[in-house]
Amino acid sequence: MTSVSLSTSAANALRADAVVVAVAKGPKGLVLAPGAETVDEAFDGKLAAVLTTLGATGAEGDSVKLPAPAGVKASLILAVGLGDATEGDAFDAEALRRAAGTAARALHGSKKAAFALPLADAAAVEAVALGALLGAYTFTAFRSEAALAGGKDPLAEIALVGAKRGDKANKAAVDRATVVAEEMNRTRDLINTPPNDLFPKSFADIVTTVGKEHGLKVEVLDEKALTKGGFGGIMGVGIGSARPPRLVKVAYTHPKAKQTLAFIGKGITYDSGGISLKPAGHNETMKCDMSGAAAVFAAVVAAARLGLQVNVTGWLALAENMPSGSATRPGDVLKMYGGKTVEVLNTDAEGRLVLADAIVRAGEEKPDAIVDVATLTGAMMMALGSRTFGIMANQDDFRDKVFAAATAAGEQSWPMPLPAELRKGMESPTADIANMGDRMGGGLVAGLFLQEFVAEGISWAHLDIAGPAFHEGAPYGYIPKGGTGSAVRTLVQLAEEASAGAL
Ligand code: BES
Ligand code: MN
Ligand code: ZN
Repeated sequence: MTSVSLSTSAANALRADAVVVAVAKGPKGLVLAPGAETVDEAFDGKLAAVLTTLGATGAEGDSVKLPAPAGVKASLILAVGLGDATEGDAFDAEALRRAAGTAARALHGSKKAAFALPLADAAAVEAVALGALLGAYTFTAFRSEAALAGGKDPLAEIALVGAKRGDKANKAAVDRATVVAEEMNRTRDLINTPPNDLFPKSFADIVTTVGKEHGLKVEVLDEKALTKGGFGGIMGVGIGSARPPRLVKVAYTHPKAKQTLAFIGKGITYDSGGISLKPAGHNETMKCDMSGAAAVFAAVVAAARLGLQVNVTGWLALAENMPSGSATRPGDVLKMYGGKTVEVLNTDAEGRLVLADAIVRAGEEKPDAIVDVATLTGAMMMALGSRTFGIMANQDDFRDKVFAAATAAGEQSWPMPLPAELRKGMESPTADIANMGDRMGGGLVAGLFLQEFVAEGISWAHLDIAGPAFHEGAPYGYIPKGGTGSAVRTLVQLAEEASAGAL
């Protein structure tokens, strides 16, 4: 695993394989960012000119390698782009995270690197540490030994140079970034694990094991307990699979907690669509349909590792959505936890069914707020693209708070409405509600469905991460191919705000 530390050495004097410097796009071409001074001296002050000759412009995503001159201990210089130069020394946190991530990816296979990036304050230290640790992520658990031996290891050691080492705020920034990055990487691992390895029981077993390591209380309801307890939504979705469903409760408590949060995650370990089977072309990445549950689990672990003064309960609604002779049929009516009935018109609208049970169950414990996270609808991807998640809520001010938390945490999101007129489309001639409504605004329809199950008086928000949970394109910045860890930072931010009593 990759580690980050603060170093007091000068960039040129550190024993490392590579030194990373940053460049930016100035009005008259490429400029060096603060941190690059000692390296530039070794180039006789010509580093910017050399990099320009090599085609670098300072644009975001720029990544140029060149041999180090005499006067630099490392053998390689890597220059990464920050985008537009800013007034003064402060760069946007996201630009720093992306540049650090690009650098860590470019140095895959190296052992140790000095990151001589602009570290103006603790926020910059945290951004660089986080971006680097996320960028270094790889997923090799399912490569054969032979392929592994021929492959390379991620960058192992990252020394941040130019930031004060004794500074408490800088040290805390590295510690926080390490926890958040490791928990995002845990989320990514869970998402990337193929569905023949990660299914409801194996996921629950992981939560039990990891939960124990971090002093969390874990309770698992198996199919017998779910049936007995009346969890008709989770059972209805999981009943077609040879791998039965689970509802996992994973709780972190702090004796001085002022507020209690419930996080709920959609944990469909594979979404085939069920009897309303998805066509080829739509099911290849559906191992990602447990991204919400993975994010929730990781956020609870992060809250524990950070020792936040808050109670956080994670509810993971785990099921595999499969077609079979025992599967729920379109037309079936399910009796949900709490007694509401749902006519299942499309078995591919399964996420809302497992979430509804969990929302009612979580509400029984009267938390101050419920936040659910789900790869819920293709419609949300249509609306917001693949890098932005949608936020819906039962109170505008709570939705604004969640949006502000996501933004502060560095996650791209957007507030979405829950227009009351869309409820009509879900009217069922047979049951209390149908699991499908108008096709237009399908992401909002799903949100309205969930809202029906939220107990009176509890603030609730719904994050539809169908777009950003799983990245199919080329890696960029600190985002790899596959699971991204979307929503983890937002949940941790919310837990932090609640620990200050500010939610
Ligand atoms: N898991 C999917 C949503 C999804 C699609 C996530 C693409 C990530 C990428 C969800 O269960 C689903 O199938 N939703 C349907 C709902 C429809 C049948 C009302 C959809 O969006 O098409
Ligand atoms: Mn589905
Ligand atoms: Zn799904």
